[in-house]
Amino acid sequence: MSTDSSLLNSELELHQQEELYQQLLFLYLLTSLSFFLFANLCIFFLLLFLSLSLALPTPGMCVKTLSEPGKDKVFVNICQSNSVPPPPDLSREELVELLKILTTVCSQSCTAFDVVINQEFFQRCQKDPLFQQFVILVSLEGLEHKYALELSRDWKVLKNRKFLGSLGEHNIRTKNRPMIQELQPQYVLLPEFTLLVEPSTGDPEYLIGEIKLPGVPSSRSLVLDVGEDRLVLTARPSLFHLDIFHPFLIDQQNSVAQYNKSTQVLTVTMPVVSS
Ligand SMILES: *[C@@H]1O[C@H](CO)[C@@H](O)[C@H](O)[C@H]1NC(C)=O
Repeated sequence: MSTDSSLLNSELELHQQEELYQQLLFLYLLTSLSFFLFANLCIFFLLLFLSLSLALPTPGMCVKTLSEPGKDKVFVNICQSNSVPPPPDLSREELVELLKILTTVCSQSCTAFDVVINQEFFQRCQKDPLFQQFVILVSLEGLEHKYALELSRDWKVLKNRKFLGSLGEHNIRTKNRPMIQELQPQYVLLPEFTLLVEPSTGDPEYLIGEIKLPGVPSSRSLVLDVGEDRLVLTARPSLFHLDIFHPFLIDQQNSVAQYNKSTQVLTVTMPVVSS
């Protein structure tokens, strides 16, 4: 019996083709599956990276101070982040609302706290020393209030360090109470003040400012900036704000201020260089 070899061949060919097709299909599925997995993995890590980088505060400045009366070292990391909302109005008063105390890292002899403020606002504070002082003061007051501490106002902003500890441990999204809000003043008052020169006749030698600050318990709550022809004062918690220009050129270095707790009057004595 003769077989049609061509028929057999074509059947065999068909079978081989089918096998090849199946192999290719399998390969195709395998490749697309691994590609799919790979792409998903990439997207996952990209999202993870984005969310982490957006949420993590970046170091800003590190403030060193001492706790009282123990005199233990205390570091306050003032960090910047975009996750903290910017102030609706970049005034010092609104600042109080922005601060968030996140976490604490404690060891035996030193404690570090993290305070996070809006990044843009942080940059502003870098440019304005008074703003910076105010941020630090408010941070210290907030920490004192929250942790029942007493911190020295004799702080120092570290020059070579922006941060103490490791920032990665703290996630800004943990919804800690923005506790400094509790201290938020309801309004800002212009304090009653007088400016006078001494002696009252002839060439002025001293410019003396007397500022009444009822309700301010001690000079610890004051931030005073004496400029050449300007006096800026901020007090808390009954918030007073004073920003005055005067027609004298004064000696900033030798200006002194004294706060009388019983009368609650701040006296600023400024030697006059010229008028
Ligand atoms: C504060 O003022 C009162 C009243 O004028 C005065 O008796 C007292 O000595 C002053 N205290 C200081 C530390 O200057």
